[in-house]
Amino acid sequence: MATTTGSEKQLDRILTLELARVSEAAAVAAARLRGHGDEKMADQAAVDAMRTELNRLPIDGRIVIGEGERDEAPMLYIGEEVGNKKGSAVDIALDPLEGTTICAKNQPNSLAVIAMAERGNLLYAPDVYMDKIAIGPGYSAGLIDIDAPAEENLKRVAKEKGVKVSDLTACIMDRPRHARLIEEVRATGAAIRLIGDGDVAGVIHTTDPDQTGIDIYIGIGGAPEGVLAAAALRCIGGQMQGRLILDTPEKIERAAKMGVSDPKKAYTMEEMAKGDVIFAATGVTDGNMLSGVRFGRNGITTHTLVMRSSSGTIREIRATHQGEHKFDKPA
Ligand code: FBP
Repeated sequence: MATTTGSEKQLDRILTLELARVSEAAAVAAARLRGHGDEKMADQAAVDAMRTELNRLPIDGRIVIGEGERDEAPMLYIGEEVGNKKGSAVDIALDPLEGTTICAKNQPNSLAVIAMAERGNLLYAPDVYMDKIAIGPGYSAGLIDIDAPAEENLKRVAKEKGVKVSDLTACIMDRPRHARLIEEVRATGAAIRLIGDGDVAGVIHTTDPDQTGIDIYIGIGGAPEGVLAAAALRCIGGQMQGRLILDTPEKIERAAKMGVSDPKKAYTMEEMAKGDVIFAATGVTDGNMLSGVRFGRNGITTHTLVMRSSSGTIREIRATHQGEHKFDKPA
């Protein structure tokens, strides 16, 4: 079930389906470079394709989560204005290729991802790490607590799910920084799915444990990915909390310039993505929820999840793109 936050102005619903075109284009471009071992090239291809499609949209768009600061990313940088300026003022969070390493190695769960909300409604997160915890829909509000020990969160989830803690699986990024967390979770008897990259998918996977086998996401990943994941959960339902890791005066100052007044604040999902949110993700490589792009005899097929928080509609779009068109590989 989707969550709405107060009296929210709705985005033009036509944009929901338009967003699928944007993530599809990025996914196809990245997929052409899947398994080629070149993360940068695949990312650049996805960025170019996503930007071209975004600029076709009837929006006055501003990127708040993008490829980085203006001086480090020539395209889709934070603050870049996109769209044809003929529609509503919106903020955009995007990652044209989430999981660049996964794509370069042709491993599961790399995605092209984009979220949109009314201007001012997506957390303007600096490119730092974020501590995150997330579960899917169907649990009582406020069940998880980012400040509670992992064991406590797992016990609460197991109790409400009606299973033993040892029946749960937690998704955690395989990083040295998680050594203690991994130990703590293993001590409870719960299983861990260690992922090499791609924690937007890791969080989204908590929303369908029967299909993905994941009940809870815990640990530290990128803050931009945290906002994207929160936008997705606002649409599908679920709970998430995130705290920016601002562990140096420089990071605190950078975050303050972006409007973060309390560096220790734990953000709820609703604080990271407010109002009417729309979200699209297209599989680049095959994954637990989305299939990757296929280049077939009869065209190019893509698998996309498109969602809107105010209606709660979740669409899965399997599209076949045929003939001479923008997806065709340049000569
Ligand atoms: P990229 O798509 O930029 O390669 O990010 C992949 C990713 O795994 C994210 O999903 C995650 O949030 C972040 O990197 C974690 O960062 P790090 O690799 O530094 O631990």
